[in-house]
Formats: sequence, C-alpha cells, structure tokens
Amino acid sequence: MRLLQFVIWVIISYLFFKLPGILMGKPIPSSLILMYMFFAVVMILLVMTSTEKSTRELLAPIKSMLEDPSKKLIRNVVFVIVPIVAGVITYEQIKPTYEAPVELRSTHPAPPSTIKIYGKTYDLLALENPYRKYEKEDPEKFKELVREGGEVYFKHCFYCHGDKLDGKGHYGQGFNPLPLPFQGKDTIAQLQESYVFWRIATGGPGLPKESTPWLSAMPIWEDFITEEEIWKVILFIYDYTGNVPRSWE
Ligand code: HEC
Repeated sequence: MRLLQFVIWVIISYLFFKLPGILMGKPIPSSLILMYMFFAVVMILLVMTSTEKSTRELLAPIKSMLEDPSKKLIRNVVFVIVPIVAGVITYEQIKPTYEAPVELRSTHPAPPSTIKIYGKTYDLLALENPYRKYEKEDPEKFKELVREGGEVYFKHCFYCHGDKLDGKGHYGQGFNPLPLPFQGKDTIAQLQESYVFWRIATGGPGLPKESTPWLSAMPIWEDFITEEEIWKVILFIYDYTGNVPRSWE
C-alpha cells in the first residue's frame, strides 16, 4: 500500500502549507502553494522511488489496474472519470465571463513636456493661447475671435461633443470612451489651454502610451484645421461654458 502512503504524504504536505491560512488567517498565496506542492511531490517521489523494490511497490497498484483482466471495470471507470475531472478543472480556469475587462484609464493623463505639432516643437509649459490677451486688451476683437471659434466648433466638433457642449453629440454616443462634456467643472475647467491645445491637435492617437488602452475616437485635428482655428475654438469652448482656463499660479 505504497500508493496510499504516497497519497497521504501529499495530503499532509498540502495541509502543512494550507493550515497557517486556516488557523491563523494568514494564507499563503495559492500560486506559491502550487509551487511548494510541486517541490513536495517531487521530494516524496524521490524518497519513495529510492530503491528498485520501493518503486515497484509504489507502481504495483497502477500497473495491476492497467493490466489485470479482472480489473476491467475499475479501469474503465478510471479512464472515464480522470478525463472528465481534468476537463472540468480546465473549463473552470478558462470559463468565459461577461464582465467588461478592467480598464484603468485616467481621463486627463499627464501631457508630454514638449510636443511636435504643425512641424514645430512646443514647450507645453510655456505655451499660451496667443488670443487670450485680447480678452482684456480688446474686448471687441476678442468677441469676434470667440465667434469664429464657434464656427469652427459647429463645423467640426458638435457631432461628438454636442450642440450644448455637454458631450451628447448625436454621433458621440457609440464611442467608448465617450466624448467629454465641456460644460461643468471637471474637464476643461481643470486644464490649462496648452493642455487642451495638445489634446485637440493630437487627438486620441496623441495620448501617452501609459494611459492605453485608449480607444478614443477624438480625431487628430492637426490634420484638418489650422493652429489658429484650434486656439479660437478653445476660446469658444471656455467662453460658452463660462469656464476659466487654469493658469500656472
Ligand atoms: C468623432 C468624435 C469627436 C469629434 C468630431 C471631436 N471630438 Fe473631442 N473628443 C472625442 C472623444 C471620444 C473624447 C474623449 C476621449 C479623449 O479624451 O480622447 C474627446 C476629448 C476631447 C478633449 C479632451 C477634454 C478633456 O477634458 O481632456 C478636447 C479638448 C476635445 N475633445 C476637443 C474637441 C474639439 C475642439 C473638437 C472639434 C475641433 C473635437 N473635440 C471633435 C470625440 C470627438
């Protein structure tokens, strides 16, 4: 009954690794237990097969189960049950789930410090909206620039970001992530204009690698509109929503 001994030893070593978790509430991670068990089983096998005789004794029941004509029934039962058990275990591990995969995504990932847009390299820390100064210096001109920005917006952006700038554009609802609303205090109100410029010019593909998987539908506007149009549409989205861009101080 060497085989029985073997099974008992395996159970004892399993309990040895498992008990600290059960008795003291400090479980060993199951991947570690699997590793320990591998070494334990190898050790037990090494000891139990150290001589010819003990090896033969250990394997005798298996051999007779496979060969003895009178054990046909047991043999057939084993040959059915073992594959079923293996199949169930495998299925449990690869069982499909219907939950959405976990995606850790930050809505406003840290921007790169410099960007290359329109063939020029910009330092995002120093970049400012060239039209912002007119807000104080020349309110009439500023109003006109905002109006032009509004034209850009309703030509290019409202499909996704919405005619009320609430992110609910009629093309927007099929996307994941959804287009962001500019209304409210948690998107553009939190951002500097240089950041917004970067996001508009480089779109979803411009997002940094560390915030992948990003399947953002936001287009690369650098390819479609001019630099001036981007700065104007930025004036518009802040003006319309009553938000003030964040500044460095
Ligand atoms: C095809 C749909 C689509 C269009 C058109 C579109 N956007 Fe977007 N935009 C998105 C999506 C989706 C996001 C959210 C994912 C992301 O941040 O990339 C987004 C994000 C942004 C952000 C980032 C906001 C934040 O809080 O980080 C800005 C700014 C922005 N869009 C501006 C614009 C402007 C300006 C236009 C027009 C020139 C425009 N978008 C047109 C889909 C679109």
